[in-house]
Amino acid sequence: MQIQLDSASPLSIQADALITFAFEKDDPLEGPLAELDRATSGRLRELVAAHELTGKWLETVLLHYPAGLQAKRLLIVGAGKQEKFGNGELRRLAGAALRHLKSRGAKRIAFLLREPRQDAGSAQIVAEGLLLAELDLDKYKTEKKNGAAVDHAAILGVAGDAARAIERARIIAESENWARDISNEPSNRLTPSVLAERAAEMARESGLEIAIYDEKQIEAMKMGALLGVARGSAEPPRLIVVTYNPPQPKPGAPVLGLVGKAITFDTGGISIKPSKGMDRMKYDMCGGVTMLAVMRAIARLKPSLKVIAVVPSTENMPGGRAVKPGDILVSMSGKTIEVLNTDAEGRLILSDGLYYARQLGATHLVDAATLTGAIVVALSNVNVGVFGSQDDFTRRFLDVARAAGEKMWHMPVDDEYRDMMKSPIADLQNISSGDGGGASTAAAFLKEFTGELPWIHLDIAGTAWLDDPKPWMPKGASGVTIRSLVDFTETL
Ligand code: BES
Ligand code: MN
Ligand code: ZN
Repeated sequence: MQIQLDSASPLSIQADALITFAFEKDDPLEGPLAELDRATSGRLRELVAAHELTGKWLETVLLHYPAGLQAKRLLIVGAGKQEKFGNGELRRLAGAALRHLKSRGAKRIAFLLREPRQDAGSAQIVAEGLLLAELDLDKYKTEKKNGAAVDHAAILGVAGDAARAIERARIIAESENWARDISNEPSNRLTPSVLAERAAEMARESGLEIAIYDEKQIEAMKMGALLGVARGSAEPPRLIVVTYNPPQPKPGAPVLGLVGKAITFDTGGISIKPSKGMDRMKYDMCGGVTMLAVMRAIARLKPSLKVIAVVPSTENMPGGRAVKPGDILVSMSGKTIEVLNTDAEGRLILSDGLYYARQLGATHLVDAATLTGAIVVALSNVNVGVFGSQDDFTRRFLDVARAAGEKMWHMPVDDEYRDMMKSPIADLQNISSGDGGGASTAAAFLKEFTGELPWIHLDIAGTAWLDDPKPWMPKGASGVTIRSLVDFTETL
């Protein structure tokens, strides 16, 4: 889809559909809506009187061949209460509009921004929302049912120059779609080695440095925790390391290490999961894919610090050689881990990933993982769980996430949680000896491998994919945290 700014008036723009939005108010006809009402000789006023146009969140009003307009359709989307309308809402609204019109065969659309959202930032959000809504899940359908793509979108009503903002939107949204597309792949089509190939292809296209380590090399690196998880599978593991070197490095600038869990399928291993809903565990590599997508975006946005992504990838399978409850693994850091539950595998592979990122010179760490069912209990599929070792660093990230329109919630990692992860016979055990707090005890386990570095852990188990479609997005991988991480990288 091509996206362009256009200075045409909403009345004269030629398009299959003109989109704008109304706030929920006694009289939603203000600003451009009043103008559109006059142009259509009071049609909108009639809809308001009939309570069909109220501005309620994601209400859609579609007029065909509105007299007085050049556009073939006018779509007014409800924006809800104005006080609650932030970037997340605008992005979703734009996406919902695109999906509504795409299924009706529109090819050329125009989105009219209105007060109080007429700056370059708003144009960026709209462009992101449109691009993210394009992705569909019909790749493996032999008959494609979803309407053909919208090829052209004009954004109207922007004050000032927003060309760069739209370029930025494209970089971020295409990186999110890249991640969502890979994350939606089933495990038979996306093994650790295939993921590594996809990462290599991305790195080549983006001008990033990449190293891929196979089983033998991982063994030579003494990553006993990653290897322990990989033992049960016939598919060999991979360690993917992608590096971005800034064109103008600043002396003394931080080096950011991004570590992501990429379990291409999590059966639970010998501590096997119940079969109901197990298919969802094909999404257990979303954290790793997230970090690769962030690299894809920053290769194009070129921030002035070095960034290293470390993505350990394996399947978690039962098998004749699989790790068993009670086994002890020696992690790369030298710390020993008693594996009491083979289904707590994410923290094992991340322990080696985090330690390795430190060895590569990271001064700050962020990890993302579909780590615990406990975070789903705590926050459902609404908020990302955010844990951190230094409050000011964690809060800076949370502020960026809020501005980016992604919901996240600060969770605790007190020392008491770490005490619950102490093993009587090894340095650590991989599940807690206490009750409850499963997301925090998992985070406390990870923290043991981060040294003294500022570190943030994102538990995306509840938010990395949607079980049900939304008006702005099909079911499947959501791409959550990518845009916050891209913005955050730039603030460092
Ligand atoms: N990949 C799962 C976590 C998960 C659960 C992700 C639900 C998405 C939805 C992880 O590897 C896991 O199995 N965690 C266990 C840990 C437990 C054994 C301590 C869990 O949360 O049940
Ligand atoms: Mn598991
Ligand atoms: Zn898992």
